[in-house]
Amino acid sequence: MDILIIGGGGREHTLAWKIKQSPLVGKLYCIPGNAGISEIAICKKMDVEGDFEPLAQFVVDNNIDLTLIGPEDPLANGIVDYFEEKKLSIFGPSKAAAEIEGSKVFSKQLMVKYEIPTAKAEIFDDADEAKAYIERVGAPIVVKADGLAKGKGVIPCRELDKALKAVDTIMVEKAFGKAGDRVVIEEFLEGEEASFIAFTDGKTILPMASSQDHKPAYDGDEGPNTGGMGAYSPAPVVTDEVHELIMNQVMEPAVNGMAAEGRLYKGVLYAGLMIADGKPKVVEFNARFGDPETQAVLPRMKSDIVPIIQACIDGNLSEIQMKYTNKPAVCVVMASGGYPVKYEKGKVITGLDEANALKDVTVFHAGTAKDDDNVITNGGRVLGVTALGDDIKGAIDKAYTAVRKISFEKAMYRCDIGHRALNR
Ligand SMILES: Nc1ncnc2c1ncn2[C@@H]1O[C@H](COP(=O)(O)OP(=O)(O)O)[C@@H](O)[C@H]1O
Ligand SMILES: [Mg+2]
Repeated sequence: MDILIIGGGGREHTLAWKIKQSPLVGKLYCIPGNAGISEIAICKKMDVEGDFEPLAQFVVDNNIDLTLIGPEDPLANGIVDYFEEKKLSIFGPSKAAAEIEGSKVFSKQLMVKYEIPTAKAEIFDDADEAKAYIERVGAPIVVKADGLAKGKGVIPCRELDKALKAVDTIMVEKAFGKAGDRVVIEEFLEGEEASFIAFTDGKTILPMASSQDHKPAYDGDEGPNTGGMGAYSPAPVVTDEVHELIMNQVMEPAVNGMAAEGRLYKGVLYAGLMIADGKPKVVEFNARFGDPETQAVLPRMKSDIVPIIQACIDGNLSEIQMKYTNKPAVCVVMASGGYPVKYEKGKVITGLDEANALKDVTVFHAGTAKDDDNVITNGGRVLGVTALGDDIKGAIDKAYTAVRKISFEKAMYRCDIGHRALNR
């Protein structure tokens, strides 16, 4: 079968790399893709966020059998509904189901209704009322814009002033547009974060290996939040007991709750969790694979991913099994200097072949492009350098050995990816 992947980041390169290994797959397409993806798939530049007609036409013209969505925006804008109406096979949640990520208000109300453990929260559509509430309960506190904000709409605040200012930024200055019409103001959770990502056909839940992202830009979790500076899998904080709790208290009530709400959830459901004293609480749900978690999880997956995706669409996921290697994986993100604020593009990248030649190392591309014979930087996050190891230390060492073979002007990366797993 021929498959199209929508997206062009590290997550999509990893999906393309994994799908390409399936004996079931013929041609692989990616829109828009990047330099790395273009080595294994036919790439084409098109708008993927709003106008789905040309995409559907591309699928029809090329007889593509299955479309897979990487990022959240096309899902939230209803690409799945659009394709299904045209009888085109697509993997991902409908617009109504993707609201579990697209609206933090909806997601919080779902969690409250189905008794899924999460931070206590209040919802406001008025800035003054939101601020009065913050004055009353005090800091630390977290202010969240309701809608999608490219990972910038959540402001954890240790001080009262910062929280009051966050309300102004989101609701008055409208830094994220309509996404800030409403806010969720919630309890500040302490603990360790983990990502729990599962396939589901709306009934059965098939969890992938656990993982942990590193959001802050700099070592020691300092600096501004980013799209993610690295990841590792498995996350030791997700013990067997914690895994059980997550399945029983989070994943099952979420999937069953969505079905009960008339929003049958098919695709990948991602629970972002805060775990304290062995008890998980949901920070948020995402309606898709994580980035960069996917770069650490999929290299560990031994099963063919294509039948799993097909089973989610067909509704027979209960017949599927999925296997992982015990070897841990570590992904170190190499970013452009200045990311996530201001950075330059177009720097020539060297050493990619040398890094890729190392055993158990794969360099996934994120913001890259081709310029004549060179691969150049084309975004904030540039590469996800991933290694498998016999243990977490081995994986970390190998990933950094590979990172040191790669260079581009003003490259930056964290030197402490995997430190939490190592300290356990
Ligand atoms: N209630 C909370 N307590 C402490 N930290 C939080 C809380 N909610 C979010 N955060 C932090 O902010 C980050 C981003 O929040 P999240 O809800 O995942 O939104 P998004 O990924 O859409 O930006 C989380 O990964 C976590 O580090
Ligand atoms: Mg998040």
